[in-house]
Amino acid sequence: MDVYGLIGNPVGHSLSPPMHEAGYGSLGIDARYVTFEPAPDDAAAAIEGAGALGVAGLNVTVPFKRDALAAVDPAPLAERIGAVNTVDFAPVRAGEADRPRGHNTDAAGVKRAFAHHGVELDGRDAVVVGAGGAGRAAAFALADAGAAVHVANRTAERAAELAEAVPGATGGGLDDLGDRVAGADVLVNATSVGMDEPEATPVPADHLHGDLAVLDAVYAPIETRLLREADAAGATTIDGAWMLLFQGVEAFETWTGADAPVETMNAALRAELE
Ligand code: ATR
Repeated sequence: MDVYGLIGNPVGHSLSPPMHEAGYGSLGIDARYVTFEPAPDDAAAAIEGAGALGVAGLNVTVPFKRDALAAVDPAPLAERIGAVNTVDFAPVRAGEADRPRGHNTDAAGVKRAFAHHGVELDGRDAVVVGAGGAGRAAAFALADAGAAVHVANRTAERAAELAEAVPGATGGGLDDLGDRVAGADVLVNATSVGMDEPEATPVPADHLHGDLAVLDAVYAPIETRLLREADAAGATTIDGAWMLLFQGVEAFETWTGADAPVETMNAALRAELE
């Protein structure tokens, strides 16, 4: 039996175990997915320890994504983003490497969530609201897919700093967010606005329009005010569970080498969110 897992702190509410185990069950893979809660400074020790115990793969979440980078051999996109959320021990187990491979499937999750909904990113104008961990992954993902990215953030300096690292991106505060969104094809909410607050929205309704595809990284609640108002404006809407699903799907495929049973994993995830 293979063991996969997640390190985070806190990790108790994670939706990943049922999502991944539904995938193993569907494909007849003999594996388990468990959660671990190391102390906040122990990312490297936890990853090394998991490798020593024969764990096959680890997901990494808050607050360990940046520190995990130092404990792995990072894939190019993970290195550019500066954060790792998926560790693959296969190269070490095969005796081909000293350190596990580190990926950032949050970025792949953004790209695949749009692709699943038929949204073309290449050559499009995209606005990412938020410049934290989720905003970083989204901005790099969209730029990597060929979009021209503008990062808007409450703290403008944070947006400018992120935009400097992302090829071709611009960054600024929220003052001109309305004009930016009016001229955009793609919008990502990567702030926590709307999380557990059904009436809060990061982008006022009058800026939304029918030519927009909107991804909200918030998944609790699953239907945010932003998505409700975007839908009313005629936009394509993609909820946060799709991003969560596809980062998991990408990790699953990286670890197992199999095509993930996307529908089964989606059903398991959404059953948890109900
Ligand atoms: P994560 O890793 O989930 O992205 P984070 O690093 O704490 O979390 O980032 C949270 C993001 O939400 C930031 O972009 C934050 O803006 P600041 O950089 O100005 O803090 C944004 N955010 C949080 N609350 C907000 C609010 N009430 N209005 C606007 N932006 C907000």
